[in-house]
Amino acid sequence: MNPQKSASSEIAQAEAPSNLKAERQSLTVVDNRTGQSYDLAIQNGTIKAIDLRQIKTDADDFGLMSYDPAFLNTAACTSKITFIDGDKGILHYRGYAIEDLAERSTYLETAYLLIHGELPSRQQLDDWTYHIIHHTFIHESVKKFLDGFHYDAHPMGMMISAVAALSTFYPDAKQIFDAESRRKQIYRLIGKMPTIAAFAYRHSLGMPYVYPDNDLSYPGNFLNMLFRMTELKYRPPAALERALDVLFILHADHEQNCSTSAMRGVASSHVDPYCATAAATAALYGPLHGGANEEVLRMLADIGSAARVPEYIKRVKGGEKKLMGFGHRVYKNYDPRARIVKRIAYEVFDVMGCNELIDIALEVERIALEDEYFVTRKLYPNVDFYTGLIYQTMGFPVTMFPVLFAIARTSGWIAQWQEMLLDSEQKIARPRQVYRGAGLRGYVPMDDRK
Ligand code: ACO
Repeated sequence: MNPQKSASSEIAQAEAPSNLKAERQSLTVVDNRTGQSYDLAIQNGTIKAIDLRQIKTDADDFGLMSYDPAFLNTAACTSKITFIDGDKGILHYRGYAIEDLAERSTYLETAYLLIHGELPSRQQLDDWTYHIIHHTFIHESVKKFLDGFHYDAHPMGMMISAVAALSTFYPDAKQIFDAESRRKQIYRLIGKMPTIAAFAYRHSLGMPYVYPDNDLSYPGNFLNMLFRMTELKYRPPAALERALDVLFILHADHEQNCSTSAMRGVASSHVDPYCATAAATAALYGPLHGGANEEVLRMLADIGSAARVPEYIKRVKGGEKKLMGFGHRVYKNYDPRARIVKRIAYEVFDVMGCNELIDIALEVERIALEDEYFVTRKLYPNVDFYTGLIYQTMGFPVTMFPVLFAIARTSGWIAQWQEMLLDSEQKIARPRQVYRGAGLRGYVPMDDRK
């Protein structure tokens, strides 16, 4: 055994008196294999995993690593974008409470805030809005590309492919370290996501595509592209337009969730933002992430009536099923977005009529919030629990639910992408592994294999 001593002052071995150690914000670790002790710097409530590497049993030892499947306790970046206190149920974008933004802001203003760090002035918002609505058209060839999908293709599959295809239309997007080029791709991505989504929807119905209308708001235009029939001018119902805008605000960012980690991870290879956004959209598609609201509706329909909720909860507790729309990796309290969504649900029901599944949802929530299984595991409704009911009442088929999420989350993905690119501490994402497979063995010819 030949324990290595670190030369780094930050990670030098512990020698200081104990009263100074506390002031030095460090962690003293004793390696019981060697008896060696190490002083690891603590910064922002973290130690650097790379500082563990100095902890070795001998010179040939690779050094200690941290093992953290699914990143349960690993910060992969520093960020100034979104703050979540999962225990208290708090969500802030750039320091602004989600409740204030949902009440007083618009999605485009919130997108500006996420990407630029500050709320825009009137002029900045006008310019931002102008540029985004002047990038809503998609190339006619993208339209033809969408035409190639089967009539029952899931719109998320179409969306993922079409966003990736945009990369081939905008080769300038490769200039990721050119601020002007990035600005242009940002306008394009935020502008074109609703157009692609709406075209995917119309394709599934076999209906002609509706081109963007620059006179309408961002959500209003989206509703136009989805639902316009023979009207010369489509006027979105004001309550639905606002409800959709608020839902977009609530979904705009959520720090290092699965799809955002995909965005950062894929973009860390310096690929263009369209390909990275396609990867993030793919991550969002999964039923444990953005696909959950689709699953919630299926679950509520499966339960069938409020009277059958206790029986369903029993199956969940028996490990047979998951209660979709419940639980969250970060929130161990009521998801603040779910509270706002529940309110919006009633506003939409006032205009469109009540969704019959709401009684089942309310009963699920009531029983779960009182049940020891859910209470002890801190399982509360998440943002997806009520969104599906709203979307369905607004006339969206379930397959469109994750698509709506992807449109909204695009601004968050972009904000995180830019932050990652400009962060001098970031490199290509490349986790380590603990290899536990076979040791070296001789090649076995085909005829000798069992
Ligand atoms: N129904 C029943 N039990 C659950 C649920 C649920 N929805 N969620 C978690 N649990 C249980 C787990 O079985 C586990 O129990 P155990 O300790 O007896 O083994 C315990 O609660 C802890 O759960 P984990 O799986 O460790 O929690 P994790 O952080 O890994 O998962 C997740 C979070 C994926 C969101 C999970 O709660 C889940 O699958 N929920 C349903 C899907 C869903 O609604 N996803 C949307 C999330 S929000 C979003 O992405 C926008």
